[in-house]
Amino acid sequence: MRSDPPARRAHLVRGAAVAAATLVSGIGVVAVATQAHAAAGCRADYSVNQWNTGFTGSVTLTNLGDPITGGWALTWDFAGNQHITQGWNGTFSQTGTHVSVTNPAWSTSLATGASASLGFNADYSGTNPAPATFSLNGVACTGSVPTTAPTTTPTTPPTTPPAGTRADNPYAGVKGYVNPEWKAKADAEPGGSRVSNNPTAVWLDRIAAIGGAAGSMGLRDHLDAALAQGAGYIQFVIYDLPGRDCAALASNGELGPDDLPRYQSEYIDPIAAIQADPKYRNLRIIDVIEIDSLPNLVTNTSGQAGATAMCDTMKANGGYVNGIAYALRKLGAIANTYNYLDAAHHGWIGWDSNFGPTADLMLQTARASGDVRNVAGFITDTANYSALREPYFTVATTVNGTSVRQSRWVDWNQYVDELSFAQAFRTKLVSIGFDPGIGMLIDTSRNGWGGPNRPTRASTATDVNTFVDQSRIDRRIHAGNWCNQSGAGLGERPTAAPEPGIDAYVWVKPPGESDGSSTLIPNDEGKGFDRMCDPTYTGNARNGNNLSGALPGAPISGAWFSAQFRELMANAYPPLS
Ligand code: BGC
Repeated sequence: MRSDPPARRAHLVRGAAVAAATLVSGIGVVAVATQAHAAAGCRADYSVNQWNTGFTGSVTLTNLGDPITGGWALTWDFAGNQHITQGWNGTFSQTGTHVSVTNPAWSTSLATGASASLGFNADYSGTNPAPATFSLNGVACTGSVPTTAPTTTPTTPPTTPPAGTRADNPYAGVKGYVNPEWKAKADAEPGGSRVSNNPTAVWLDRIAAIGGAAGSMGLRDHLDAALAQGAGYIQFVIYDLPGRDCAALASNGELGPDDLPRYQSEYIDPIAAIQADPKYRNLRIIDVIEIDSLPNLVTNTSGQAGATAMCDTMKANGGYVNGIAYALRKLGAIANTYNYLDAAHHGWIGWDSNFGPTADLMLQTARASGDVRNVAGFITDTANYSALREPYFTVATTVNGTSVRQSRWVDWNQYVDELSFAQAFRTKLVSIGFDPGIGMLIDTSRNGWGGPNRPTRASTATDVNTFVDQSRIDRRIHAGNWCNQSGAGLGERPTAAPEPGIDAYVWVKPPGESDGSSTLIPNDEGKGFDRMCDPTYTGNARNGNNLSGALPGAPISGAWFSAQFRELMANAYPPLS
């Protein structure tokens, strides 16, 4: 994959709106009805994502009363001519306007406070009013339990969340899954055992990876191994969009630009089916969704310096937005999954001209999934090298009266490091409509920038360029460089809740796995040769026509690159002991 691009030009106009003809309205319905002698009570939150002839409906049903065991039924009546064509997370039946949904076979109980999320597709004509009332096991959902004294003994609410209730921060308080395949490669390097017990993500980077490509572990193998390790969370990267990596070549994938149907049925559906296996219900399954894709639609389409024909195609045909919306909906329907959308990094969308439009596209895509709550959070710096913190200057620093924003390195960006960017982007996302509970992840696998070339103090130079170049810990030639960066080190070790708004520092890009080959290497994965991975390449508009800064001798993206792993350990920051 690739995560560069420049795209700072405030005067450039964003291209036409992405082709996802969806209109979203959220309607909270809380109907009431009480029952005199039982502690029954429920809440049903209903929302739709509609177009002119159809819609996707979502119902989050919360049991507010006594625990329900042995099955449940949710019923409602449509007020118009809505007709359900397909439903999920329950068995749907419709007679006339009356709809009944019974529990899925694998989930017969609903503890006090527990929720079930149902979804369906439907057609309609005319208007699409929300149902007035929902009933759970025949009792209308009022949003509260009647105050009339119950005849049954009240149960104490569980002190730990019941299985299937999402944690606010899935990383908090539990240990992460260590991928044994990555660990073995790390352990085989001298000194590798110092870091090989860290959790890294498993990249499902092709359909064959689900079952286990070329003798390697598949999705189930990893989930089973996570159970065996007693892990609390496991991280996957969902990475096989049609027309993947539209602005670069190093991580092009197997699916062509028009392969959205295959993406849905051959890739997302099988992943969702396995992740939904009740055997895994106590694991927090973290799905990092489609690195670089939405940001590419913002910065690398017509009218932008980085425009490519493939990014224009993927914007026009809706393949990225609809593919991601589908992934969010299918994976988000599983009670113990956590979807994190990729939000590039500060050196990509930290300019005002990219920041707001990227957030808007994220919201549009999340809404197209049927419910913005299908998004647990966002990840920045995945497989990139932007420093977590620049300790010797901030975006507000001035040098001899000149702002660091005017330096060649910062180049008018509003952020100089990932932590400030990630926190600000989170604030922006919540302000436009994402759930206030969202959290950010920062990939710190290769952004440590330690070793002998790390500055130890702020420069005393009075020229702004000299000051920034001597003070910055990010030693890249240009912030748009992204492939196998020479001089990089391992960053912060994976840590839960390190800073406000940050769910975790994570190692999503497994250190030691190449970003792309330095020369053309034929392969059957669809991966091309991107000159940004060639150390002799003198660059293009996206990296200010600078050298690529890539290490020589690299294998194709995803393959083990021993020399890089050794350098990452040598330049780790915090240093390895
Ligand atoms: C590659 C994937 C690989 C991942 C993790 C990406 O750049 O395209 O094939 O699994 O990096 O190393």
